[in-house]
Amino acid sequence: MEQESDIQDELKSRGPLPEHIAVIMDGNGRWAKERGMARVLGHKEGVHAVRDVTEACAELGISYLTLYTFSTENWNRPAAEINALMHLLIKALKREASTFHKNRIRLQTIGDIDQLPVPCQRELTDLMADTSKYDGMTLILALSYSGRWDISQALRSIGSRIESGVLSADDVNEEVIARSMSGEAYPDPDLLIRTGGEKRIS
Ligand code: IPE
Ligand code: IPE
Ligand code: MG
Repeated sequence: MEQESDIQDELKSRGPLPEHIAVIMDGNGRWAKERGMARVLGHKEGVHAVRDVTEACAELGISYLTLYTFSTENWNRPAAEINALMHLLIKALKREASTFHKNRIRLQTIGDIDQLPVPCQRELTDLMADTSKYDGMTLILALSYSGRWDISQALRSIGSRIESGVLSADDVNEEVIARSMSGEAYPDPDLLIRTGGEKRIS
């Protein structure tokens, strides 16, 4: 691993590293298609890429890594693909538990987790509980997440606080909104990477 630590020293010597990196994981299907493989095999390879990126970030001392893994819009995909993705997620969480422990990575999620199949939710809840005390990197998996979903849930929460009288409509400001968004516990990302070659946010 001497080569790897050389790369890390080189990166560190270039100046401050981002505190929070976010990755929109895209292009799995195209990657597979270019190789004459089924889309699902692209997703499987994607899991390996995620493991490598996660370990590299943890070793470099990145504090927060957000992975946009499955979007609200992804529910519109064929059932077989959704099913395969959910199974991959469960398998990856089971198999990579040791990666979390070895690197003291804390797992968190953002998104409409209740929409995920129950076995996925269970796997996530267990690993989050097992890693909640870790002080290494925080890995945030965005699942059943989209910016529009996040704004909706923030507005619902603000609305219900107004309804119950703990908040007045006049008090709604940028800070109240920011604190109601699901990333409120983390600093804003410093670097956003979209894999797959397209230059846009989802
Ligand atoms: C990203 O790759 C994986 C998920 C959305 C879960 P895609 O499946 O979007 O692959 P492309 O963009 O079709 O190549
Ligand atoms: C987005 O890929 C990556 C996510 C997992 C969120 P998609 O191909 O699903 O999304 P678009 O192309 O940005 O709509
Ligand atoms: Mg895509």
